[in-house]
Amino acid sequence: MATRRFLITAGLPYSNGRLHVGHIAGAYLPADIYVRYLRATGAEVCYVCGSDDNGVAAVKTAREQGRSVEELTAFFNASQRASFCGLGIEFDIFGGTHQPEFVELHEKISREFFLTIHAKDYFTKRTTKQLYDTEAEQFLPDRFVKGTCPHCKSANAFGDQCEDCGKSLDALELIDPISTMSDSRPEPRETIHWYLRLDQLQDRLRTWLESKRDTWRSTVVNFALGQMAPDEGGLRERAMTRDLDWGVPVPLDDPDAAGKVLYVWFDAPIGYISFTAKLCADRGEGWEAYERWWKSPDCKIVNFIGEDNTIFHAVTFPAMLLATHDSDSIQGAPGEFQLPANVVANSFLNIKFPGKEEEKISKSRGTAVWIEDYLETFEADPLRYYLTANAPESQRVAFDFDDFVTRNNTELLNALGNFFNRTMTFVHKYFDGKVPPSGTREPVDTEQLDRCKAAVAAVGDELERCRFKAALAKVMQLARDANGYFDATAPFRSRKTDMEACGRAINVCLQTARTLTTLMAPFLPVSARKCITMLRLDDSALAWSGATDPLADGTALGEPQLLFKKLDPKELFGE
Ligand code: 2FM
Ligand code: ZN
Repeated sequence: MATRRFLITAGLPYSNGRLHVGHIAGAYLPADIYVRYLRATGAEVCYVCGSDDNGVAAVKTAREQGRSVEELTAFFNASQRASFCGLGIEFDIFGGTHQPEFVELHEKISREFFLTIHAKDYFTKRTTKQLYDTEAEQFLPDRFVKGTCPHCKSANAFGDQCEDCGKSLDALELIDPISTMSDSRPEPRETIHWYLRLDQLQDRLRTWLESKRDTWRSTVVNFALGQMAPDEGGLRERAMTRDLDWGVPVPLDDPDAAGKVLYVWFDAPIGYISFTAKLCADRGEGWEAYERWWKSPDCKIVNFIGEDNTIFHAVTFPAMLLATHDSDSIQGAPGEFQLPANVVANSFLNIKFPGKEEEKISKSRGTAVWIEDYLETFEADPLRYYLTANAPESQRVAFDFDDFVTRNNTELLNALGNFFNRTMTFVHKYFDGKVPPSGTREPVDTEQLDRCKAAVAAVGDELERCRFKAALAKVMQLARDANGYFDATAPFRSRKTDMEACGRAINVCLQTARTLTTLMAPFLPVSARKCITMLRLDDSALAWSGATDPLADGTALGEPQLLFKKLDPKELFGE
């Protein structure tokens, strides 16, 4: 069978802040689990991410912090890289759309992308009105304008959205607008932008999305198709350029393009492509080798994102890709940019502090768990476990501190950790640290081994479908069954009366531990590594197809290691 190939992306985090648990649960962790699993099945995988350095968010934060945008984005690119590394989230490349080693290639590929779409006549050049700050002498990005909401009259509205009633706004609608750059009153002025003709691409997008109904999460398909509903007027053109001095300059030889940059949502997804190109260059294949991942129908592209990114990944970016095509093949003909095989979006994560109501994660209110802080005290796996067992796959859920501690102590420690611990301790105490003979198996033994085989298939099936929470639940069920088997066969009793029966049971426990090692690895890579050492295996033990390969009788095993620690709520919250 030909090797399956996958290009996996996780939404590029804005490099104007640190990462918190919500980011991790939304995209990076599920993508990492998927990548680890796909590799275990023998697939060739490229996992790409990096920071989203362009756009207004970085400019605004840099101004607020009195730093240059270059310095700010370099700082947070490094901080995010360290957080991912601490959590065992391993990209093949972590770039950054304005990081020194990436910016040249990123701008080149972004420019070519824009020019191809331009040549194919999918842009309309339009004059519009926008607020201009006469003191700062620049057009104001929506987020730089504050004012009174025309709907609810709150004074807490920005040029894109009202913070109180949540309605999206046009900056020109704001009552008494004020520029946050100079505190002066901006005036409307004419400006020119290039609009992507989404209306022209809508029919092909709709056909493409309809074909995904059976395989994608319904939330994603329904949301994207909802944007095209005729009663809403369908897709409208969207400006793909901005008046800003930070980003990828608009690559047109047109005086009207002077001083303008590409809209950040135009260049950010191209970051997935330019980082892949950089990876190919670093590997000595030449940067153009990115086409093997992006323009080849035998490579599946899967985008992992948080729910707020759905429109850009299920509508705008696919529209950009379609707009570069010569053929009318919707997925993309060989040699053309391929549309994603799947867009996997998770909902947001709320937070629930002990004794408080569940609330939204908020940077400004300080209601977040920062990964850097978490990693000062804890290991990666308990958080990976909790954020998967309690993943916001179909709806918002809360990171609940009490639940985090309870699940660690009852599920990870009591079920999984305890099974390994009791088996390994026993084998060292009574069998000289060697796999005891399998002997003649009884039905109770083969039933347990059958459960292992069934779990390998069932967990794999859930992971193929990106149902990470259900997959992990099945791994944990096997751990509970393993404890049930240990209790039922009671080697702690038979060792006094029937050493052969005792050895038989411990042999089956070790075979189960072997299978659990492979199955836990995508979710709990640090713990799986400890299991590999304990069972004296090597990295080949990660292969899904070998998950039930038997440990031979008499194999010498490593020393028992504790997989998980009991967490004390006091350690987490202080007293
Ligand atoms: O929402 C965000 O954090 C964006 N920076 C995601 C960009 S994803 C991609 F398209 F690059
Ligand atoms: Zn309002």
